[in-house]
Amino acid sequence: MHEQQVMEPVAPAVNKATPPRHSTANQKLNMEQGHWLLAKMGKKVLRPGGKELTMGLMDKLAITAQDDLVEFAPGMGFTAGIALAKNPRSYTGIELNEEAAAMLRKKIHGTGREIIIGNACCSTLESSSVDKVYGEAMLTMQADHRKAEIIREAYRILRPGGLYGIHEIALTPDTMSEEGKRQVQHDLAATIKVNARPLTRAEWTAMLEGEGFKVESILTNPMLLLEAGRIVDDEGFFRTLKIAFNILTHPKARKRILAMRKVFRQYEASMSAIAIVARKG
Ligand SMILES: C[S@@+](CC[C@H](N)C(=O)[O-])C[C@H]1O[C@@H](n2cnc3c(N)ncnc32)[C@H](O)[C@@H]1O
Repeated sequence: MHEQQVMEPVAPAVNKATPPRHSTANQKLNMEQGHWLLAKMGKKVLRPGGKELTMGLMDKLAITAQDDLVEFAPGMGFTAGIALAKNPRSYTGIELNEEAAAMLRKKIHGTGREIIIGNACCSTLESSSVDKVYGEAMLTMQADHRKAEIIREAYRILRPGGLYGIHEIALTPDTMSEEGKRQVQHDLAATIKVNARPLTRAEWTAMLEGEGFKVESILTNPMLLLEAGRIVDDEGFFRTLKIAFNILTHPKARKRILAMRKVFRQYEASMSAIAIVARKG
């Protein structure tokens, strides 16, 4: 994992407090989508930089027992488990998918613990009401104007000085041509069956700063989601064996997963995982 130097921010845009209203939840898990297919095979860590980058992000967020914490798109709740182990004063997960939310509610409940079904762009939380917000592997899959809405929502609900952490896919280098970007986005979307629209490091930074954040730290890790070493790191030896068995005994899933790995390998030099922590001024 690499820590990168943070450049001076460009002038922040004025923030709008009223979130847009288009928060239709998905009722069922769409097993066509790469991340749910992998989850069905037993994979728990479904973010580009693996557990290592998640731990780096958690470290930079430095969650304490005094924090009111919000997670956008907790999915299967892997990072929620890490965050809740810090015993934050409150934890709210905002998850679009009803089936995922129902699973999360079985694990996450009690005083100060809540899972809201809805779109991160339009949470029902009060403005300036929380200390830290984070979301992983959820902005990349949004169109750029939706990414901006979600970032704006994080800004709105954070108290001044609050931190927002993201963990996403970055295109490299920053100078990649528009044609190159379109090609990677097209091939990724075609194999993972999600409208993946990763940005370069400079574009992620500009988008956060455009919504008023000041970027404080940037960590990167190679995009090795489907490589054996990363899977063992993320899932442990025995779960890896179980995942391998599941993949071998499900030929259709195997074909899809091998196609995903092929695209990840093809664009290995053009993609990395990125985690950014930014502060509300
Ligand atoms: C690739 S998974 C990542 C889940 C989790 N953050 C992780 O890293 O394991 C994507 C998840 O994001 C959720 N999601 C996508 N867009 C969302 C949005 N706008 N608001 C809330 N949840 C969203 C999906 O329902 C799904 O559970």
